[in-house]
This record gives sequence, C-alpha cells and structure tokens, in this order.
Amino acid sequence: MTLSDTKPWWQGSFGYQIYIRSFADSNNDGYGDFQGIRSKIPYLKDLGIDFLWITPFYPSPMADWGYDVAEYCDIDPTFGNLDDFDALVEQAHESGIKIVADLVPNHTSDQHKWFKEARKGPENEFRDYYIWKDPAPDGGPPNNWVAYFGGPAWTFDETSGQYYMHLFLPEQPDLNWRNPKILEEFDQILRFWLERGVDGFRIDVAGGLMKDEQFRSNPEITPWDPEGDRWEQFESFEHRYDIFQKENHEIFRRWRSIFDEYGAYLHGETYILEPSGLAELLPGDGMHGGFWFEPMHIEWDPSEIRRSIVEVSELVGERILWAAGSHDMPRSPTRFGNNDLGRSRTLALNVVFSFLPGVPVIYQGEELGLIDGDVPEEHKLDPVALNDKQFGGRDGCRTPMPWSSGSNNGFSETQPWLISKQRDVSETAEAQIGKPESWHSFYKELLHTRRSLPDLTGLAVTWLDSGQGPVIWYERGPVGVVVNTSSETETVKLSLNSEIVYKTSQMELSESQEVAIPAAGAFVYLRD
Ligand code: GLC
Ligand code: CA
Repeated sequence: MTLSDTKPWWQGSFGYQIYIRSFADSNNDGYGDFQGIRSKIPYLKDLGIDFLWITPFYPSPMADWGYDVAEYCDIDPTFGNLDDFDALVEQAHESGIKIVADLVPNHTSDQHKWFKEARKGPENEFRDYYIWKDPAPDGGPPNNWVAYFGGPAWTFDETSGQYYMHLFLPEQPDLNWRNPKILEEFDQILRFWLERGVDGFRIDVAGGLMKDEQFRSNPEITPWDPEGDRWEQFESFEHRYDIFQKENHEIFRRWRSIFDEYGAYLHGETYILEPSGLAELLPGDGMHGGFWFEPMHIEWDPSEIRRSIVEVSELVGERILWAAGSHDMPRSPTRFGNNDLGRSRTLALNVVFSFLPGVPVIYQGEELGLIDGDVPEEHKLDPVALNDKQFGGRDGCRTPMPWSSGSNNGFSETQPWLISKQRDVSETAEAQIGKPESWHSFYKELLHTRRSLPDLTGLAVTWLDSGQGPVIWYERGPVGVVVNTSSETETVKLSLNSEIVYKTSQMELSESQEVAIPAAGAFVYLRD
C-alpha cells in the first residue's frame, strides 16, 4: 500500500458550500432542490471541486431555514425525497465529488416529535431529551445565559411552569446531551446517512452540545442590554458555562469511531476566534477538523490577515477548514469593499488558503466574485434581520445563485423564496464561464493548478515575508505563494529558476527574477 492509499480522502481536497434553498431550482417553485444540485454537478466538476457541503435538507418548519430540524432521517419535500438524495449521491460519486451533510445536534425544532412529547409535562418519557429548569426564586429565568440570536436563552413553558433552554430561537430547543438516550439516537441518525453513502458531516454549533452540569451563570463583562444588537448581547458575557465545555469531546470521540468505520470526514462549526482555543477543540481522537472563522472578521490589512492565518496554521495545521464566507456572514467581496477590489482581495485570500495545510471551502457564488444580493428591507426573511445591527441579518449572502441573465437570474421561473434585485449580467455564471480573466476562470484555474501540483500534505510552511509590510509570502515544499495586500504595486525577487504557475492578473518574471504585483494581486510559483 502506498501512502496515498492510506491518506484520508479529505486531505488535499477543496470544498464547496451549497445553501440548498438558493442554489438551483429544478421544478420552478422558487426553492432550490436536490435535482437542481444534480443538474449542476457538471459545473462543479468542471470548476474542480472535490466535495460539497450541503446545508440542512431535513423536514423543518423553517423558523431558522432548516437549522430547526423536525425529523433527522428524512428530506423536506421542498428539496425532494430520499430517492432524489440517493440519486445525487450516486451522480456526485460518479463525477468524483463527495457529499458532506450538515448535522444539527445542538437543538431540534420545537415541532420535532421529541419536543412535542416533552412539552406535555415532567412525567413524559421524552422530557429529559431537553433541558428544563425551575424558575429562579424571583420567577425569572434559571440563570443569565443569553441566546446567540439575542434575548435570554430560556423560554417559560406555561404547562409545567418550567423554563426550557435554547442557544438560538425559542423554536430551537436545545437537546440534553447528558441523557445517554440522545447519544444513542444520534448514533442511529449518523449511521442512517453514512449507510446511504454520505462521505462526512459538518457538525452545526459543535461547541454547544454539553452545558455546565450545575448551570452556573456566566460572568457578565459589560451590562447586558436585552434590546441591543445580537452580537453585543452575546459578547456581554464570558461564555464560561454555556458553550465549549470539555465534555463535548466525549461525544466527538464516540462519533469519530463511527466515522472511521466508514472513512467519513467529521468536522465542525467550531466558532472560536482563538487559535489555541481551536487547537484545544481538535485533539487527535475527536473531530478530524474544524472551521476557522477569524478570516470572516478581519479588515483588509496585512497585520490582520497575518494574525488570522499564521498562528492558527502553526497550531492546527491540516485540521483547519479555511473559509472566507458562508451563509451566516456578509460575502467576503462585500466585506472587503463591495466592488472589484473586494473581489480581488477575496480571490487573493483564497489563493493564500489553497496551499496552506488544511481544507479550503468556498461558498456558492464565491467563484463568480459575488457580492451580497440586494434584499429590500420588507423582504428580509432571516429571523435575526432586525436585531443584527452590525450586518442587518444574513439574507444578503443567501440570495439565489445568478446562473444567467434570464428572469430571476436563471435560478427559477417563479419568484424565488427570497426576493432580491436582479444581478448584473457580468455577475452570472453564463457570462463568466469560459471567459478569460473572469472571476470564474480565476477560481477554476486556481483549483486546477492546485490539483496539478505535487501533494503538499505533511510539508511545513516557511514564511518568507518579514512579518511586516504589505507582502504576504510563504513557501511550502516546492510551492511558493505571494500576495500584495496594499493598494500599490509591490515588487518581490524570487530565487533563480522559479516559475510562475498561477496569477490573478498580468504578472511576469523579469530577467532579474523580479515580479511586480499589482494591488490585491496574488501569484503561485514553483521553485527550483
Ligand atoms: C449555525 C448555522 C446557522 C444557524 C445556527 C443555528 O451557526 O450556520 O445558520 O442559524 O447554527 O442552528
Ligand atoms: Ca424547487
């Protein structure tokens, strides 16, 4: 057996996040669906994608657009049925593309049969599937925990006079992971999908599952304003007791042994912005990997970029999932300028991610350089749109994929579920595919260049920049990556016999081995 036979499939792979409702609508009802994804497999294969992470597709009342699951082992009719799912898995596999699903184990929908039962009263056999507590002596919530979406993490239940806990909406009650029955239920759920051919799972809210056994209040850092911005509310507390409890690891270790039976990829939404914190969440026998979110929070500034990649890369290495955007944050080109400069910067960041240890993932439409869609205020659908003062909610990054210049940008013949302004023709896949120097072509070439280069797994990164100044520069094995973060041209000098194998704009090696890099430009070279 050679080393490459034993290497897990995700090492060296490149992922693509599909927000299923907005990807491709096959039956023109306004919602993306599985048949729609199937119709785009050739597009994704051509782009050079290795795996798809598909956001939740289970039956759901859609209070949080699918992250409120009412049944874990089925498909919401909006997206198709289990046969459609099986057909997608088969077709993707035939094209060499793996399928990663999204597991939501922290909470269910309040319409899940477990919660409907649990709600009947303290004697119900499902009561302990959730977290119930008596009121504080003053009748208020049992402790000071707040929800990620703002407001208290507790909702009063009239029937029993107790509170139940939720890290997100009241329609998303948290499961009680100290109940061994929950562990057993989820073993079955995971096997159900792994048996159907799923190649991995992204674990939603991976830090949330276990809560402090004594439900102690969190230390308050700044006075909590229950009416304030949702991020400010959450950051008013040090989250010592509600999230990132050490006991979570026992769950991941258990799941890891199941995943390893199937050779499947177990990774999580590990929303912690400290490199050492991320490293602690990923000891060797737990999840294979975790998403790193700091790059979604930085300004375009060389020291911030370095801060968001160098240390974590050293501490966490191959276990990192790199992403510039997702369905939860404004699109990266929007954050970095909302124009062509923002698009170039996002591409440059993806070039940096692409040759570091770890797994890069782009969010649907990133390959078209998409900025946020324009959703008129009255059409916003995100439940946090109103109290997310920082970003105005998550609708802008969730608008339908612009496939063509047709009505609704070729996404659907019907008005899409989320209404947004028609995109400019130049933003569509149709206009960009095959066109030299389109964003699509730059991304496609990046992915294909990456595939054509030697496998870098296990090789260390050497930073060649001074740690200051606008140029970011590293080498890993035979490959070098250089990015100019400034708004002026910068020149670097390569060693003899270097060869440029990828560039985001016109750049040439001069006879003296110098390369002038335009603002936000990036290139990749092979050294001698
Ligand atoms: C994760 C998802 C987000 C969802 C939340 C609650 O953060 O990415 O979209 O709202 O979990 O499930
Ligand atoms: Ca549809």
